Amino acid sequence: MAKLTLRDLDLKDKRVLLRVDFNVPLDENLRITDDFRIKASIPTINYLLGNGAKKIILMSHLGRPEGKVVENLRLNPVAKRLEELLGIKVKKLDDCVGEFVKSEIERAEERVILLENLRFHPEEEKNDPLFSRKLAELGDLFVNDAFGTSHRAHASTAGVTHYLKSAAGFLLEKEIKYLGEAIENPQRPFVVILGGAKVSDKIGVMENLLPKAEAILIGGAMAYTFLKAKDINIGNSKYEKDKLEIAQKILEKAENLKRRFLLPLDHMIAEKVEALAKTMNTNDDHIPEGWLGVDIGRRTIGEFKKILRDARTVVWNGPLGIFEIEPFSRGTKEIALYLAGLKAITVIGGGDTAAAVAKFGVEDKMTHVSTGGGASLEYMEGRILPGIAALTDK
Ligand code: 3PG
Repeated sequence: MAKLTLRDLDLKDKRVLLRVDFNVPLDENLRITDDFRIKASIPTINYLLGNGAKKIILMSHLGRPEGKVVENLRLNPVAKRLEELLGIKVKKLDDCVGEFVKSEIERAEERVILLENLRFHPEEEKNDPLFSRKLAELGDLFVNDAFGTSHRAHASTAGVTHYLKSAAGFLLEKEIKYLGEAIENPQRPFVVILGGAKVSDKIGVMENLLPKAEAILIGGAMAYTFLKAKDINIGNSKYEKDKLEIAQKILEKAENLKRRFLLPLDHMIAEKVEALAKTMNTNDDHIPEGWLGVDIGRRTIGEFKKILRDARTVVWNGPLGIFEIEPFSRGTKEIALYLAGLKAITVIGGGDTAAAVAKFGVEDKMTHVSTGGGASLEYMEGRILPGIAALTDK
């Protein structure tokens, strides 16, 4: 890696300011429903603890409080979970900058300190230089392990790097290694699976990966926009009217590049998006009026598997149907289980796709599951992420 990493730092007796992405889902009782991102930060924290760092000052955002204190978005549940995972006491502070925060860090007997939600201050998202300096004053070194937020140029991801020697944590390094290698230097055949609701979310990824991949397999609601662009009946399925032209262009590009761009050959359709709705598998790629597509069909699942069987690198971003509703989850589930049994390098984009592989119990069978939703998408688009670019060069 061209940037400093944890191993390049002399940590002895240093206060390390560590940006993590603890933006985790909470239920109505403020219980964490998925602690994947907290768990993913543990190797870096343990390394800092084991290599002489005096204090580890963790900072994160949670949700989008828009520059105000929102009681339900305090990081207290995260501090509790972190204590359980680390097996040591974590001191949680109620703010992230200022004299009180400084003196509490100074006085703390705990070596791990978690600051309050950064986004309670509007200056965080504005990447305000004074706020960045106030954060930087809390540490002697900066480590960024928040891959999930590295597509944001905020005070805690980019601003602080102007004031402190700044290195990548193990999670950030791992994300770049697996996503980067899969995209830039894949073992071939390289197959990309794209799903999710909108074509608009994936245009950049398709543009970047079409020339690099041998095949792109399309599922999810975005498939209906492509089918509509080909004049195929999609019944009452959701599609993006204003993206028909770009869908057409992508289809042409795939043809010109002689890439396999596989749209569903059949569908699971339902009368409504409800678990108890009447469903059926279509005979071909057409969807009759009064029905809507909710998943890829059986023949499509079979065809996808045939292509995936020989792949040596697979990147997957976006579920293939409405997997949260059991009768519509078959496509996403079968493909997740199939990938779990492959010898290929399997890289799973974060967000919904990560949630899907976790739901079907196969996250440990994948080579890498990204902690980044928006960040992994932008990385796959070939963009430079500001939180990575800002780190100190080796
Ligand atoms: C995410 O969940 O994708 C990251 O934590 C970034 O959150 P944001 O989209 O609110 O900036």
